[in-house]
Amino acid sequence: MSLIEGEEEHIRTSVAGVLHDHEAARENLIPILLQVQEELGYLPALAMEQIAAALQVPAVDIYGLATFYNQFRLHPPGKHQVKVCMGTACYMVGGRIALECFERRLEISEGETTPDRKFSLERVACVGCCTMAPVVVVDEQVEGRVTPTRVDGILLSYETEDQTETAAAEQKEEDLS
Ligand code: FES
Repeated sequence: MSLIEGEEEHIRTSVAGVLHDHEAARENLIPILLQVQEELGYLPALAMEQIAAALQVPAVDIYGLATFYNQFRLHPPGKHQVKVCMGTACYMVGGRIALECFERRLEISEGETTPDRKFSLERVACVGCCTMAPVVVVDEQVEGRVTPTRVDGILLSYETEDQTETAAAEQKEEDLS
């Protein structure tokens, strides 16, 4: 995923700060990665390279570790985080189909973020609303009985909301100038 303006500098500064808090030793790798992820929201390739250089370990080892443990995310969180429940109740009544619909509509796979960073998509375990299965949570909003025909409408409501926000911000800027 390509970096947005100013992000490279932000990553370098954040990682440098985290490395400053830890002794540059291989056994500190997991705590370092966790702290970097906490600060940045994910583990960018650039951060892993910077950590590899500081700890003098091959970058490929760090990448392998980050992909092995599923608490690490390699893609930035989207502005809207779509979480599709894959708990048993949801899976049995179409959770997998709902996930595939979101993947097709957003043109990304689960675990990824759209290039414009508006949406990220992930699968989650039971979110505790099994009677509404299949369930999808977008940001904090729980959507129940998500059939394929509802996927477009759900995404559209967030896209419209974003467009309204952008238009309002542009109008405000225009009013101030
Ligand atoms: S299995 Fe999906 S909410 Fe429980």
